[in-house]
Amino acid sequence: MTYQIRKAAVLGAGVMGAAIAAHLANVGIPSLLLDIVPPGAQDRNIVAKTGLERALKARPAAFYSQRSAALITVGNVEDDLSKLAEVDWVIEAVVERLDIKHNLYEKVEAVLKPGTIITSNTSGLPAHLLIEGRSAEFRRHFLITHFFNPVRYMRLLELVPCADTDPALLSFMQQFGTEVLGKGVVLCKDTPNFIANRIGVYGFVSALRHALNEGYTVSEVDAILGPAMGRPKSAMFRTSDLSGLDTTAHVASNLYENAPNDEQRESFRLPELVQEMLRRNMLGEKSGQGFYKRVKNADGSSTILELNLKTLEYEPQQKVRYPSLGAARNIDDPAERILTVLSGDDRASQFARETTADTLIYAANRAPEIAESIVDIDNALRWGFNFDLGSFEVWDLLLQHPATFEKVFEGRQMPELVERVRTQGQGTFYVGEAGRRQYFDFKSDSYKPVPQPQGVISLPALKANNRVVRDNGSAALIDLGDGIACVEFHTKMNSIDEGIIEMMHYAVTEGQRQFRALVLGNEAADFSAGANLFLVLMGARQGEWQMLENAINGLQQAHLMLKYSPIPVVAAPAGRALGGGCEIIMHSQHARAAAESYIGLVEVGVGLIPAGGGCKELLLRHGADVETQMARKTGGPFTPSRKAFEIISFATVSTSAAEAQQYRFLRKTDAITVNRDLLLRDAKADAIRLAEAKAAGQWQPPEPQMLLLPGSGARLVLEQQIDNMLLLGKISEHDAVIGRKLAYVLTGGETSPVTPLTEQQVLDLEREAFLSLCGMEKTQERMQSILMTGKPLRN
Ligand code: NAI
Repeated sequence: MTYQIRKAAVLGAGVMGAAIAAHLANVGIPSLLLDIVPPGAQDRNIVAKTGLERALKARPAAFYSQRSAALITVGNVEDDLSKLAEVDWVIEAVVERLDIKHNLYEKVEAVLKPGTIITSNTSGLPAHLLIEGRSAEFRRHFLITHFFNPVRYMRLLELVPCADTDPALLSFMQQFGTEVLGKGVVLCKDTPNFIANRIGVYGFVSALRHALNEGYTVSEVDAILGPAMGRPKSAMFRTSDLSGLDTTAHVASNLYENAPNDEQRESFRLPELVQEMLRRNMLGEKSGQGFYKRVKNADGSSTILELNLKTLEYEPQQKVRYPSLGAARNIDDPAERILTVLSGDDRASQFARETTADTLIYAANRAPEIAESIVDIDNALRWGFNFDLGSFEVWDLLLQHPATFEKVFEGRQMPELVERVRTQGQGTFYVGEAGRRQYFDFKSDSYKPVPQPQGVISLPALKANNRVVRDNGSAALIDLGDGIACVEFHTKMNSIDEGIIEMMHYAVTEGQRQFRALVLGNEAADFSAGANLFLVLMGARQGEWQMLENAINGLQQAHLMLKYSPIPVVAAPAGRALGGGCEIIMHSQHARAAAESYIGLVEVGVGLIPAGGGCKELLLRHGADVETQMARKTGGPFTPSRKAFEIISFATVSTSAAEAQQYRFLRKTDAITVNRDLLLRDAKADAIRLAEAKAAGQWQPPEPQMLLLPGSGARLVLEQQIDNMLLLGKISEHDAVIGRKLAYVLTGGETSPVTPLTEQQVLDLEREAFLSLCGMEKTQERMQSILMTGKPLRN
C-alpha cells in the first residue's frame, strides 16, 4: 500500500497536541484539532480553542507564521469524530493514561476509512499495550510517533512500530518525518520510554545521586554538565526546570515499574529529595520554582536563586570556578572540551568522570535491547537533548585516548559491546572520515555505512575528496558536481570580510567558465552574522575613511555582481543571516532557505544603516521599481519607503523563513526546506533547475532596475514620526540621528518623485550615510558594545 498525508487530525489539544498541529500547519498540512467537551460547557470546542490560543502565544513561537494557524480547525471528540473519515493521519496526543487512550481508539476505529494512519505521541506506554483489543486493520496502520517538546524546535522524532505495523508505513513515516516535517527520525524498539528518555533520564538520576552523595550544588552540576561537557547551556537542572520535574519523575517511575530486568532499575527509584519537591510543587517553570527560582527585587529587577539540595531552601547562586572548566571554556571543538574536563584533576572533573562512566556504560549495555543501531542512540541524544556528541561518539573519544579512558573507567566492568568492538571490530564504534563514516553494527559485528537521508550533501566529505576549487582562508569554492559550485563562508560567525567578498567576485567571474550555477551556503549554525564590525570600528577609530569607503564600495559591487551574474546564483541561508548576510540573500537570484532562518537588516542596532544594497533591495522588494510605480501598484512612491523604513528602523529580524517572506527579505517564489540537513541538496537541485532553464532560453539574469523614490516631502513625514518618538521618550537622540539618515536614503535624498534613480545612485546614498554615521562617537560606542559584550547599547 502507498501512503500519502494531505490532511491530519490531532486528538488532544494540550501542550503537545496543539504544538503538533502548529507544526503541521508550518509545513502546510491542514488539521483538525479535537479535545474533550468539558461538562456543562457552552462552547463545546472550548478546550481545543484554548489549546490553539496557547500555541499561538507560545514562546519560542510554535508557528513559523501566525497566519498558518488558519490551517487548523478546532473541534471536539463528541461532535466531530466522524470527520476523522476525511483525514489521512490521526495523531493521538491525549493524557498519558492507557484506559483513556484505549477508550478513544475504540471510538476512532469505528469511523476511520481503511488505510488511515493512526499514531500515538505517548512518551512511555508500549505500543503492544496501546493496540490491545484493536482490529488487524487498525494495528497494521498503527505506530508511535514520539515528538519532543517544543515540537517545532526539537529535532528528534522517535518512531516505534508494533509487531503488526505495515513495514511500508514505517518507511513512509521515516521519509515523511525527515523530508516533510524536517525531523531527525530515530527508529526505536518497543521498550519502556524508547531511546532518548531511557538514556537521558538515567543520566539525570545518576548525576543527581552523585550530587547528593558527594555534595555538589545545583550550580556546580550545571556548570559541569553544560557546554564544558558538550551539552546545552541549560545543562541538567535548568533543563529539568524547563521540562518539568513531574515529567522526569514520571519517566523514572515508569522505568522502575516496567523495566524489571534493567540492571540499573534501583537508580530509577526516586530519591526522597525529588519526592519532597513533587509534594511541594517545586516542578520548575510551570510552578514558578524548581531547582532554580526567580525572585523580584525591590527595584523591579529579578535575581535567580538556586535550591540547596540539602536544606531545600533557595539561596543566591555561587560562582562556580574550576581549573578544568576554565580550560575548557575557550575551546571551540566540543570533543576537545570534553576531553579537557574528563582528564582534569579537580572536583568538576571527578563529577564529570563518574557521570560519564555511568551513562556510557548504561548506553552500551542497553543498546541492543532498545535500538536497532548505535547510530540511533547517538542521534536520539543529539537531537532529543541537543548534546554535541552521542554516547558512542564519547566512547570513541575515550577509546582513542587511553590515559583518559583509564581515569574515567577505573575499576569499572566493561560492557560486553565495548569488548566486542575491541575484539571483533577496529577498536572504535565509528570508523572512516566525515561523509563516509561507518558504524559498528552490533547485530553482525561488522561496520556499515552510517545511513544518511537521500541525496544529502556533506561539505566536509567533498573537501576530503579534493573537491575544493579554491580557498582563500575566509571562503571556499567547492565543486558540488553536476556543474554546480558552492561558495562556502568559513570565517568566525561567517562574518563578511575582504576574503568573502573576493570569493563571491571570483565565483561569478571565474566560476562561470567552469560551472553552470552557484550556491551560496554553508553548514555552520548561522549563514552569516553580517559585516566584520571589528574592521569597520578599527577603520572608523583610525579615521581611515578612504579605506572604509573602498571596502563598502567593494561590498556593493560584489552584491551587484551576484544580482546580475550571468549564471544563476542561489543563496541557501539557515540560522541567522543578518545585515550583510541578509543583503547577500537579497541580491541572489533565488533563495532556498532553511525554515529556521532568522533574517534581518540589523545595522541600526550598531548605529549604522544597511550599506551593501540592503536599503535599495528592500525598497525594490516593496515596489519602488519604476515599472511597479508606473503601474500604480503600491499606492504611490511613498509606500515602499515607509515599509522599508518600518522594517529597517526597528532592526526587524524574521523568526522564520516564512516570516522573512512577509518582510520580503525572501521572495514569495523563494523556496523553503524544513530539514536543515537537506538544505544544500535542495539548493543544488534549484541551481540545476535554473541552469537548465537558462540552457533552454527560459532564464536570464534580471534587467538593471531603476527606482522611483518620493523625495523630501516624504522624508519630512518620516522625520515627523521620528520627532514624535523622540518626544515620547521612545527613542534616544542618537536613534533619531540614525533614523533621519535612514529616512534620507529611503526617500531618495534630494531626488524628485518623478526622476528615476539608478541602483548605483541609491548605493551612493547608502554609502554616504554609512560613512557619516561611522564618524560619530555614539555609533562607535554602539559597535564597541556589541563587539565587547555582545549586547546592543542604546545610547
Ligand atoms: P496535556 O495534559 O497538556 O494535554 C492532554 C490533553 O488531552 C488535554 O487537553 C485533555 O483535555 C485531552 N484529553 C484527555 N482525554 C481526551 C480524550 N478522550 N479525547 C480528546 N482529548 C482528551 O498533555 P501533553 O503534555 O500534551 O501530553 C500528551 C501526550 O503526549 C501524552 O501521551 C504525553 O505522554 C505525550 N508527550 C508529552 C510530552 C511533553 O513534554 N509534555 C513530550 C512527549 C510526549
